[in-house]
Amino acid sequence: MERLKSSARLMIVSDLDHTMVDHHDPNNLSILRFNALWEAKYRHDSLLVFSTGRSPTLYKQLRKEKPMLTPDITIMSVGTEITYGNAMVPDEGWVDFLNHKWDKKIVTEETSKIPDLTLQSETEQRPHKASFYVKKEKAQEIMKTLSESLVKRGLDVKIIYSGGMDLDILPQGAGKGQALAYLHKKLKAEGKLPQNTLACGDSGNDAELFAIPDVHGVMVVKNAQEELLQWHAENAKNNPKIIHADETCAAGIIQAIGHFNLGPNTSPRDLPDLLDAKLDHFDPAYEVVKFYLLLEKWRRAEIDSPERYLNNLKAVCSPAGLYVNPFGIEQSFGDVIGKLKDCYGDKKGKQYQVWVDQVFPTQIDCDTWLVKFKKLDQTGEEQQCCYTTAILSSKDVEPSQGLTWVHVHQTWMDGSTGDDKSWFL
Ligand code: GLC
Ligand code: MG
Repeated sequence: MERLKSSARLMIVSDLDHTMVDHHDPNNLSILRFNALWEAKYRHDSLLVFSTGRSPTLYKQLRKEKPMLTPDITIMSVGTEITYGNAMVPDEGWVDFLNHKWDKKIVTEETSKIPDLTLQSETEQRPHKASFYVKKEKAQEIMKTLSESLVKRGLDVKIIYSGGMDLDILPQGAGKGQALAYLHKKLKAEGKLPQNTLACGDSGNDAELFAIPDVHGVMVVKNAQEELLQWHAENAKNNPKIIHADETCAAGIIQAIGHFNLGPNTSPRDLPDLLDAKLDHFDPAYEVVKFYLLLEKWRRAEIDSPERYLNNLKAVCSPAGLYVNPFGIEQSFGDVIGKLKDCYGDKKGKQYQVWVDQVFPTQIDCDTWLVKFKKLDQTGEEQQCCYTTAILSSKDVEPSQGLTWVHVHQTWMDGSTGDDKSWFL
């Protein structure tokens, strides 16, 4: 959170499964559209918060499977674990707060008396969360019995049913909504309450996200679960701050940004011809997003006029430019463009996706930007990740021509390695 010196322009707090992440789309189209929009237009002055029911173990697993951005704040285990930044530093204050009238041992004792509760996997049992599977028709009755027995034992708990199968028992002060309220309070105390907050979700454990003050818009994805639609019908039908999107998953988030007028809502992925998209100001983050979108299209043979693409590339790459690949091998931009020519369509018909994450531009003098970002690609199941630094210049060019690439340097990240030493970009 220290990254931003003042209030975030927009804070998105999004659930993951079936909200940010579409498990029914192997091409990940909607999340990739969201990613391109976020990195091009929001990353530098906004906050991305993921709020999931998953434990840290299952959250990390999902990140390996799907093209997810790195959030600024990660709320896991149904609002019982809050962590900050890439290092995922836990919020100890939140942990202390959750200990109030909570005793995991008592929860275990009481739940073991109910045969219709099936324990979820060991990874999903957390210090402030006990999780089970329960059949829909038994859920209401079990929730009632349990809350009575736990009150009798002196605990104050919250029982949440999600996805028509998951039952979570948490301390009363926990949950996705309470965790968001806590974050808002913290940010407010620092004078950095976000200008706008958009909460997004699809199932029971997301409902309380939507009842938090200071949230400017809330979106329930089209594909929402029965229990959340029921909550919406009972509590939010005529509330203009809460919409039920027509679009599924991350496409619904983009729709909500537009609906609530929270900022730009056209993803660079949706531009019909990226090569023709002209800007009226210099925008290094947008240049980076655009460059890698075109690279993906090039390798998938989805560029209408290869000749124009190459000419554009030659025009935006400084003739004196140098590229250092992740093996430390230096190549001139001329060499790189030559190699690019050879790999036109080498990923055609394959599940090949490219995205950039944490694009941070810094202006280092009147016409030069240093842009740091992670460049990721995925072919089938395999992800590769390179930490990338690029220098872009506005010297002697107009915004409509785009910035000139002067230098690019890459380093392998997160255990990624390649075996092709001529690997590039
Ligand atoms: C995630 C968690 C699970 C929890 C469910 C609903 O699937 O892995 O433990 O019950 O979310 O909150
Ligand atoms: Mg969900």
